[in-house]
Amino acid sequence: MPTGSTKQTRRSPSKPPRPPQLSARNADPFELYTHAVQGPDHEIDFVTQQFKKLSGRPLRNLREDFSGAGASSAEFVKRNPANHAHALDISAAALAWGRKNTLGKLPPDAQPRLRLLQRNVLTPGDATGVDAVLAMNFSYWIFDTRPALLHYFRTVHASLAPDGILFTDVYGGYESTKVMEERRRISAGRGRWFKYVWDQADFDPMTNKAKCRIHFEFEKGPPLKDAFKYQWRVWSIPELRELLDEAGFKQSLVYLEGDDGKGGGDGIFKPRTKGDPDACFIGYLVATKK
Ligand SMILES: C[S@@+](CC[C@H](N)C(=O)[O-])C[C@H]1O[C@@H](n2cnc3c(N)ncnc32)[C@H](O)[C@@H]1O
Repeated sequence: MPTGSTKQTRRSPSKPPRPPQLSARNADPFELYTHAVQGPDHEIDFVTQQFKKLSGRPLRNLREDFSGAGASSAEFVKRNPANHAHALDISAAALAWGRKNTLGKLPPDAQPRLRLLQRNVLTPGDATGVDAVLAMNFSYWIFDTRPALLHYFRTVHASLAPDGILFTDVYGGYESTKVMEERRRISAGRGRWFKYVWDQADFDPMTNKAKCRIHFEFEKGPPLKDAFKYQWRVWSIPELRELLDEAGFKQSLVYLEGDDGKGGGDGIFKPRTKGDPDACFIGYLVATKK
């Protein structure tokens, strides 16, 4: 007669154990940044659609300036076997994270079509002759004088194919120069969450230079203060368009978001010639070489 219990232990086969909540001790700042700030799918939707509309051909060869971990480039090469991207960043730490977590997670056939390069955007080397340059999340605002930003725009202009296009973004409205903090609760998946804090810590109206910080807060324990720090100049749309013009771009277009009727944006960006005096807005600034 067999011995042993007839009792059965029931286990759910599909549910892995819930990971520990995020904290300043266990969180990876690059991962939190990715969840809170980036939207590479929407960005690449916009860039590929507008490139096709403006140049009449598909975008195949992209350079992402100030790429960090190269999330937008990765999204781009994933979409079509004919797509190639160079991602340029000066930070070895951001690129190392990208090699493991962005490039490393691409399907094997897409990996050779993305080059993550530790380079200054002012000396892009062989990353030239490209269809489009992306400079997103206001990173180019580190160039805080007219001559410095003009030099960058000229470098981009020289890097583009004859019908190439620069895609970048702008932040405006009277809150862009305000000292203030903004908090958002962000889901990090599998029941985990954190708070993203955008801190406009200082602004000098004499120079238009701002000090900005990103902090992360958690359900329990201390925050992760100053996870990322930026020092930039707050540029206005007319100043930027004048500089693009001076750098040799044929035309510049400003795409602003439509209204959802409830005081928010509807997620649809269209070229506009007139803006609204909103407290705060984000738009795309697109400059064509031809
Ligand atoms: C705000 S992050 C932007 C990351 C990414 N583009 C995004 O959309 O989230 C700015 C990045 O610019 C890089 N950076 C700053 N100056 C640079 C330069 N002169 N050349 C290349 N990268 C630079 C920093 O290392 C940092 O990763």
